[in-house]
Amino acid sequence: MSSRTQHSIIDLVSLEKEKINRLFSTADQLALNPFIPSKGFGKTGALLFFEASTRTRMSFETACAQIGVHPMLLDGKSGSSLEKGETLEDTVLNVAAMKPAFVVIRSGDDLDFNDITTKLQMPVINAGWGKKGHPTQALLDAYTIRKHLGKIEGQKVLIVGDARHSRVAASHVELAAKLNYEVAFCGPEGFLPERFDVKVFKNFSEGLAWATVAMALRVQLERHVTKYSLANYRKNFGFTVENLKGLSDKALIMHPGPINQGTEMDTEVLQKDSRCRVLDQVSNGVLIRQAILLEVLGGL
Ligand code: CP
Repeated sequence: MSSRTQHSIIDLVSLEKEKINRLFSTADQLALNPFIPSKGFGKTGALLFFEASTRTRMSFETACAQIGVHPMLLDGKSGSSLEKGETLEDTVLNVAAMKPAFVVIRSGDDLDFNDITTKLQMPVINAGWGKKGHPTQALLDAYTIRKHLGKIEGQKVLIVGDARHSRVAASHVELAAKLNYEVAFCGPEGFLPERFDVKVFKNFSEGLAWATVAMALRVQLERHVTKYSLANYRKNFGFTVENLKGLSDKALIMHPGPINQGTEMDTEVLQKDSRCRVLDQVSNGVLIRQAILLEVLGGL
């Protein structure tokens, strides 16, 4: 296996369990001291974000800064030759020709990450690919669960809402099979995915009674043909103070972000519920992405 293929992360099916555990151990070390010496000093890393991002983009930038790698950031189309009609693939190939140590990419389904990986000489990291997957998000979520509940194995993760359009949900299905935790979906009929064979709770209270982790997803109404009432959504599936009474005191409340406050999660839950780990997910995103970059660069 070439170093490029070995260190690329496009999905979680092909990421070995041993490597995931090593990433978690490195993240534990980074939590104690994020500035451990690395082999990255003086190198560049390409961060190609063809779709909007706050958490993923800035956590990769932070991770780069902490290992001495200069991030070459392409943030949306504005100011790049994409505005002049250059294709996504040609953009990636041209940036890669400048020989960064790695390429991190976020895009829609219109770029084939598996294909582009075969054309590049350096590792490629999926930072969110259409509806297909968001592996670093699932990894940081699992790391957050392990941190707060002691282990990831055996946990019951209820993913609530728009799983049909969610790359985060897709990556959790892959990671759950690898790390032996359970995933179930809950939401209105039109929000539930057809592409996965997982447990489904039609009733939110039953799902919450089952869960050790309740994870809300952003409602992507822009992608739905049939419009769904947001007021009904909040009443039936929203993370409101009232609805979450059925969730164990020891359970975690999570959301990958960005959040539609007052739709899938109320501000009071986000800011005041002691079970809520949303901002800790973001902090852990830096640790996990830094651990990934260190692995790409050849370890600590
Ligand atoms: N969770 C997540 O991917 O957030 P961003 O779109 O802000 O990166």
